[in-house]
Amino acid sequence: MSSDFKGYQTQYTELALDNLPIQGKIPEWLSGSFVSNGPAQFEIGKTSLNHWFDGFAMLKKFTFKAGKVSFQNRFLHSEQYVKSNAMGHLYENEFATFANKSTMGRAGYMIKSLLKGIHYDNCTINITKMGEHFIAMTESNDTIDFNLHDLSTVNAFKFDDHIKGQITTAHPHLDVHTGEMINVSIEIGKINKYHIYKISPRSTKREIIKTYVSDKLFYMHSFSITKNYVILFKSPLVLNKWKLMLGYPFNDTLSLEKSDASTSFIIIDKRDGSIQEIKTDPFVCLHSANAYENGNEVILDLICYHDNPYPYFYLSALRTEMPKLPNGVLKRYVVNLNSKNCTHTAFATVTQEFPSVNYRQVNGKKYNFLYTNLITSPGKNFFNSIQKLNVETGNTLNWEKNNYYFGETVFVPKNNDSSESNGILLTIAYNTDDQHSSLVVLDANDMQPIAEVFLPLHLPFGLHGHFYNH
Ligand SMILES: [Fe+2]
Repeated sequence: MSSDFKGYQTQYTELALDNLPIQGKIPEWLSGSFVSNGPAQFEIGKTSLNHWFDGFAMLKKFTFKAGKVSFQNRFLHSEQYVKSNAMGHLYENEFATFANKSTMGRAGYMIKSLLKGIHYDNCTINITKMGEHFIAMTESNDTIDFNLHDLSTVNAFKFDDHIKGQITTAHPHLDVHTGEMINVSIEIGKINKYHIYKISPRSTKREIIKTYVSDKLFYMHSFSITKNYVILFKSPLVLNKWKLMLGYPFNDTLSLEKSDASTSFIIIDKRDGSIQEIKTDPFVCLHSANAYENGNEVILDLICYHDNPYPYFYLSALRTEMPKLPNGVLKRYVVNLNSKNCTHTAFATVTQEFPSVNYRQVNGKKYNFLYTNLITSPGKNFFNSIQKLNVETGNTLNWEKNNYYFGETVFVPKNNDSSESNGILLTIAYNTDDQHSSLVVLDANDMQPIAEVFLPLHLPFGLHGHFYNH
């Protein structure tokens, strides 16, 4: 990696630009906004943050109208962002960075955390729409409402209910069968309670589907849903509840259980609340690609790791000439609900992440097409290739461009009734030649580029985003 490589470097500039330069042609039918979240500030005063996920959240928005594209980027004004920048040092512990360096300072912070509860509002992982609110999310229950029009921060978002929990996933699901949002609120205690809840489309009031109780406080970055089931992944990657309550950096509370390790699928039947727990070989899943039912079987396509992937994302490791990113492998698990048998096969061994499907059409249903980001050769600093996989036939189509890296690929359908891959893919790219970012638009049918929208700055590699129709 050359010293001027900016993929993991701070971007302070906030812009609002109309009529961005375009190479190619933006489809006239594309109308709406692609909004993506991710870390963008890695230094506060003299403090250098340790980890990619520590960076303060920046929202990026590309708006499409009549073939033209406008852009805006803006930092999320979390309490952490506002107070840290005002004070010139980190206000609260970040994902993997202590706010206080002294023993006394850390002791005082721990007492405050015990009294105040878990607070971690640098919501840098994802965004979602909850009722009429657009919210930025992380894995604490601190979520932030933002204005989609100008990306300004509104306030801390609160649900209109009393369901308890200190942590959650930043990957809620839309149940395309019912229109409800589904997520999990995890209440830490002597027995940990995983409250699986749903929210009606225009509501902000959660309703518990079922609570799963567990001695072990297992970490879960995402989960799967099918028409009738919610499936949690109880992996050997566990959280230390005492460290969490004492306010340790979240990453420092995670550890991988080694002895007698296994991963269990916790399969909750939404119809009657019954729970099945089916064990398989140990794995850690960051992202569920999709899941569906096939008679008595549940099929789950997951990006799996054999160890804890998060230590790979320390900035000191990423900002090297030959970084080693964790080997996420796309696997298919077939769980038989009658025999409790579970088999799995890998689609490939290549490192891949950021799974995306035609979500509104196929989430929770049998499907064909999965889009992921790949690392196709060693020493890459990020994902250098985009793949379309037919999960039924195994056929693949890859696209890449020299000296380009690609963020999460988001599928946007041309219309909701057409064939599964009739649409486009949007991905924020970073070009190492000119150190600038752009938005690449691919035709999802043949994986050929149809347009590139150029930005006058670099955007650090981000995490997750969504497209919203106007
Ligand atoms: Fe994620």
